[in-house]
Amino acid sequence: MRKNIVAGNWKMNTTVPEGVELAKAVVAKSTEVPADVKLIIATPYTHLCPVAEVVKGSAVSLSAENCADKEKGAYTGEVAANMLVSAGCEYTILGHSERRQYYGETDAKLVEKTRLALANGLKVILCVGENLEEREAGKHFDVCKTQTESVLYQFTAEDMKNIVIAYEPVWAIGTGKTATAEQAEEIHAFIRKVVADKFGAGVADDMTILYGGSCKPSNAKELFAQPDIDGGLIGGAALKADDFIQIALSF
Ligand code: 13P
Repeated sequence: MRKNIVAGNWKMNTTVPEGVELAKAVVAKSTEVPADVKLIIATPYTHLCPVAEVVKGSAVSLSAENCADKEKGAYTGEVAANMLVSAGCEYTILGHSERRQYYGETDAKLVEKTRLALANGLKVILCVGENLEEREAGKHFDVCKTQTESVLYQFTAEDMKNIVIAYEPVWAIGTGKTATAEQAEEIHAFIRKVVADKFGAGVADDMTILYGGSCKPSNAKELFAQPDIDGGLIGGAALKADDFIQIALSF
């Protein structure tokens, strides 16, 4: 079944004590959020263990922001999927545009990362989305199709139950420039069709597709009202517990 999800991506923000305080505030307010809305917080690696303690027993799930494309061994600085599970993660974000843009994350690497994440029992939030140049050149459909197909088509319908897609137009991330509800909806519906083309309408209908890019309390309601937008992947506004919860109350 498709879920409503609001996931906070903290990116490279907060020290460990600040992150623990933020997580505590989110957990405290999470009781205001209806049970059919899933709350997830994705924190830097250093924060996972202490934040896992904070969210334990609450309605808030823990996510990493990335994971390694190797199982284990001599890969200095990397963190493997089974380590994330042992730290208390239920999810990991993969393929965020900042990783694609600044850290050379390719679709081929993302296939490996997704495979290892799923094999270790993690659920995956896979990010796709075009940049400004691609949008202006009218290539946004093609880019989203390629990014979605290149990774997801390597997996099975059964695997799709553990994958969430996040559509994040790069030009809307951290810019204050949100995609309009219509712009977001048209891509979400399109991505759902790309999923349907391979896995069938049932799997596509059950797929949760989140919107990300300057989503905030003032625009979340309009975005979430769209038939193919099942929630949000929130950056800046997830760093304030009040805003994050307000967004989760926008369905
Ligand atoms: P902002 O909400 O800060 O635009 O970030 C979106 C994002 O990249 C979430 O992954």
